[in-house]
Amino acid sequence: MSKESKKILLSGVKPTGRVHIGNYFGAMKQFVDLQDEYDCYIFIADYHAMTTVQNGKELSQSIIDVALDYLAIGLDPKKITLFKQSDIPQVTELTWIFNCLTTVPYLMRAHAYKDAEAKNKETNVGLFDYPILMASDILIQDADVVPVGQDQKQHIEYARDIAQKFNNAYGETFKLPEPFIISEVETIAGTDGRKMSKSYGNVIPLFATDEEIKKAVMSIPTDSKGVAEPKNPDESNLYAIHKLFLDEEGRKNLREKYEKGGMGYKEAKELLIKDMSDFIKPLREKREMLAKDLDTVLDILKVGGARVNTRVEKKMVDVRKKVGVGIY
Ligand code: TRP
Repeated sequence: MSKESKKILLSGVKPTGRVHIGNYFGAMKQFVDLQDEYDCYIFIADYHAMTTVQNGKELSQSIIDVALDYLAIGLDPKKITLFKQSDIPQVTELTWIFNCLTTVPYLMRAHAYKDAEAKNKETNVGLFDYPILMASDILIQDADVVPVGQDQKQHIEYARDIAQKFNNAYGETFKLPEPFIISEVETIAGTDGRKMSKSYGNVIPLFATDEEIKKAVMSIPTDSKGVAEPKNPDESNLYAIHKLFLDEEGRKNLREKYEKGGMGYKEAKELLIKDMSDFIKPLREKREMLAKDLDTVLDILKVGGARVNTRVEKKMVDVRKKVGVGIY
């Protein structure tokens, strides 16, 4: 399919620190899988990150880390456009225009804002305006589909509402985006069996060193079944993690080993360490290689940003004209 006939997929990634295999199997990997099917625009939401990160050095490092993470897992800059939000000043310009069409009570209904208020946090205006900045990200690109986690669904609805509001006021301009909820069909289990999450301290880093892999696997609790006893893979957290790294065939073989008996947990852990290391090592090495060649990585972002700039500027000429400020 030619690039032109493909649907536009857009998604933003907020830097969140070190990524773990739950992030990878739950979300990141899907971008890699979708990059042939869609005309993909993936960006680093650095201005969104500023609602919580107010340290320049830290933010710069986080931006670079996200770029490294996504390039290392296989986003291919020849197929997709990777860029950072702040390289598209038209997005913040459009945010202002949308701000003037949006009422305060409407924004006060946003989950993220309500949560922050409920926790008595000192909400900054940026956090309050977060949904509008996100609507601008999406609408300025004429995105068809926006893959996000369930927690972001309301933001997509906001973007649709705002598009409609603008279209009603100024005439048909923005396409209504479809949410494309990344189905976490499988909740990725952490080392303790609960959902893998930084807040539970049960994560396995995606770019873990061999040492870290070993330590994480060794910390997975198992029951007291002896070596000879048959084991139910569906009741084993060890298996739940292990299967992520196996294809159909590998899963089948491993299930048999559990069910047949004769494999103790020590052996099962050793097998997991091996399969996990085989999977992680090439990703880790690719990331290390990219990190040594930062200029290339920064160029990928710059080129991506320039490409998006050209695209969205056309849109903004029309928008400026419609709202009345574009008079030349
Ligand atoms: N709010 C999103 C998140 O926290 C990140 C994001 C910003 C985004 N702008 C976007 C996602 C536009 C999709 C489209 O995950």
